[in-house]
Amino acid sequence: MGRADQRTVRRMHTVDDARRLARRRVPAVVFDYIDGAAESERTMASNIDALAAVQLVPEMAVTRGTPGPDLGTTVLGTALSMPVIVAPVGFTRSMHPHGDVAGAGAAAAAGTVFTLSSMTGHEMHEVAAAYRSRATGQMGGAWFQLYALGGRRGAEQLVERAQESGFSVLVVTVDTQVPGSRERDLRHGVSIPLRLDARKALRFAPRVAAHPRWLADAARDRFRFEIVNAGSLGSAGHPMTGDEALIEWMMSPVTWDDFEWIRRKWTGPVVAKGVLTAADARRALDAGADAIVVSNHGGRQLDGAPATVPALIEVVDAIGDRSEVMVDGGIRRGTDVVRAVALGARAVMVGRPWAYGLAAAGEPGVAKVLSILRSGIDRTLRLMGCPSVGALDRRWVRVGDGR
Ligand code: FNR
Repeated sequence: MGRADQRTVRRMHTVDDARRLARRRVPAVVFDYIDGAAESERTMASNIDALAAVQLVPEMAVTRGTPGPDLGTTVLGTALSMPVIVAPVGFTRSMHPHGDVAGAGAAAAAGTVFTLSSMTGHEMHEVAAAYRSRATGQMGGAWFQLYALGGRRGAEQLVERAQESGFSVLVVTVDTQVPGSRERDLRHGVSIPLRLDARKALRFAPRVAAHPRWLADAARDRFRFEIVNAGSLGSAGHPMTGDEALIEWMMSPVTWDDFEWIRRKWTGPVVAKGVLTAADARRALDAGADAIVVSNHGGRQLDGAPATVPALIEVVDAIGDRSEVMVDGGIRRGTDVVRAVALGARAVMVGRPWAYGLAAAGEPGVAKVLSILRSGIDRTLRLMGCPSVGALDRRWVRVGDGR
């Protein structure tokens, strides 16, 4: 790890610190792509507010310091060292040249799952290898998140490549009929940012120049921000640019019919990500989903959609006995992870937290964010007198106004 990254990581004590440090390191156009959400950003804020409204109910003076609580769990049969999964995040190569390779390495070293977005600038096999080289014991492969870039033909190609590369679980995102209106991105003059052609580079030059380390890294990486795995689907057989991917994405939103079709193509478990109601959770299971991620895409899609805590409760009550349920949106601390697991989530996913860590300090930054979450879960369980993640259930929380 370089000296500057070492210094950055030393100053990172919370996910909020990672956010602050990321803001300094990368240009505003990149930071706002990570940090922003759709329209009024109220759904993003409501994820955080709804988590904060869940009180943790401790039992005092029942556990001793050693051994500490057991943080381990299993998701879809795979053992994880803690109930935190790295969520798919697009365009990570613009945040740091090592992007998803760094994320995969850090997640595997932390004993948890990495989910690779379809919108990645790294070859699938490179990310899968980074994950495998650091994974231990009974950990499976990394997970792959699917957007049907290029309709069923494109989806089939991505699914085949993911399977050949050794990804173990397919995560199909169902909440992106069109991209949400991310108004911060619009203000920067980009729809999906980060296609830094000469014209745009000139426009961003003054602001980008204020972030020389990011600029030097990105220049050394030759500004490779394309979507590489949808390879032959780009114009003239070249990798897709961000703009091409956006068009392909908008032309091919996934329906439940597609989901069933994808289910038949993929031999491992398939997860439906982006479910917010009991009715859709049942539909997902009927279409062959093996697990559900309750998610509003971190508030980046439908602004006004429910916060994920009430949605999690609804979905767990409806189908929690038939399937594992995960949740994401607004998880920033170990206390949040404990809240979600006590409400019935098998594990949580984190999106922005690892992207902040990556943007601030590359792989060591992601590793630090994961270790902050881990020590937060450990401390929270000790303070609650709870012996393990597996022991958490609704008796450990109070929801609503706290009465
Ligand atoms: C995302 N998310 C996302 N989801 C997905 O299925 N495919 C994708 O390519 C992306 N890309 C993406 C980019 C960025 C910058 C962010 C912040 C998020 C959504 C992500 O997987 C997850 O659902 C949310 O990030 C969860 O909310 P928090 O943890 O960011 O609050």
